[in-house]
Amino acid sequence: PAAPEIASPSPLRAPVALAAKAPELAVIVPVYNEAANVVRLVDVLDEALQGIAYEVVFVDDHSPDGTAHLVRLLGRERPYVRCVERLGRKGLAGACVEGVMATTAPVAVVIDGDLQHDERLIPDMLQTLRRDSLDLVVGSRYAEGGSLGVWEEHRAKASRLATRLARAATGVDLTDPMSGFFMVRTDKFRDIAPSLSTKGFKVLLDFFASCETPPKFAELGYTFRTREAGESKLSGGVVLDYIELMLDKTLGRYGIPASFVMFCAVGSIGILAHLAVLSALYMLAGVSFLTAQLIATVAAMTSNFVLNNELTYRDRRLRGWRLVPGWASFCLASSIGATANVGVASWIHNGGGTAWWLSAVAGIAVGVVFNYVATAMATWRR
Ligand code: GDD
Ligand code: MN
Repeated sequence: PAAPEIASPSPLRAPVALAAKAPELAVIVPVYNEAANVVRLVDVLDEALQGIAYEVVFVDDHSPDGTAHLVRLLGRERPYVRCVERLGRKGLAGACVEGVMATTAPVAVVIDGDLQHDERLIPDMLQTLRRDSLDLVVGSRYAEGGSLGVWEEHRAKASRLATRLARAATGVDLTDPMSGFFMVRTDKFRDIAPSLSTKGFKVLLDFFASCETPPKFAELGYTFRTREAGESKLSGGVVLDYIELMLDKTLGRYGIPASFVMFCAVGSIGILAHLAVLSALYMLAGVSFLTAQLIATVAAMTSNFVLNNELTYRDRRLRGWRLVPGWASFCLASSIGATANVGVASWIHNGGGTAWWLSAVAGIAVGVVFNYVATAMATWRR
């Protein structure tokens, strides 16, 4: 018998009949250790989104509790549920960005995976976005009809403070710039995506501030619910990411990297550490000035190294045995920087005509910039 021919596409099996309905809305859900919440979330979305062709894209960072596995099981039952699983803990902002990039839908809504955002707002958001041809609709806890729900007073205060700070630093005119619940047109979002930070929690604020002309937006109020299962991932590191994003959005415009500002802040702490050790040894313990000065210098360099490693460069933090060459290269760079500082200051001062303090400031500036560049290249090379 003749080999079967490869069938050409038959008019009876038009591709349209085979393909699932293309989603008009993608629900993007960043998740980390949310196994206890994902099934409930899809259930409440199914309930809230009747009549809308939607898909649900979970973006998981390889959670140890098996969230991704559970999502894939769910997807076999409900094919509009998908999982983007990334390796390594890469952070919330990047998860939101990758989720939006992963859909073909023209509109995406980002929502937390822990049921704290009110999914029943989504149809209103979609209707508002379409009716007013907007780029962005934000679920806001501070707009009319919104509230923080039951929050401890200190967290509510911190949230309001961070909100005010964000508005001042970026000029973003949103009542709730920290909201993790928002709907965007995906083509608009994709245009901006390359300039977004993947660190931290503040993807909406970053998106808004990175648009050249402010996006056309609306805000709808909702009540923030309390988390019932799993735990929050908002940690000290997240607060630092936030400070860094603020610095980037303000000073970054003038070409000053946030890590440089952090480096200088750490350096100022180092000066205090130096003076503290020096006075303790020289004034109190009676150690000779030269010895006290030497010990204080090493102590300050070590404090600078540790703090920069934990804070400024925490995304490429050195660990274990790598701390040893890291510390050594940091001390070496700092010594060269200090020499440059003294050299430049005396060179300017000896030239005559420049005040002593101005010469000193110039020396410090050269030394700090040298240290920053040298340690970024030698100690914390990517
Ligand atoms: N993929 C991924 N990677 N997801 C993450 C990560 C991460 O590193 N960190 C957190 N998530 C997920 C959580 O699993 C959850 O679904 C969602 O992001 C929000 O995280 P929570 O840990 O529940 O944050 P929260 O409730 O403290 O913060 C909420 O309020 C903030 C304002 O106070 C969020 O809505 C934030 O977006 C919001 O800024
Ligand atoms: Mn939460």
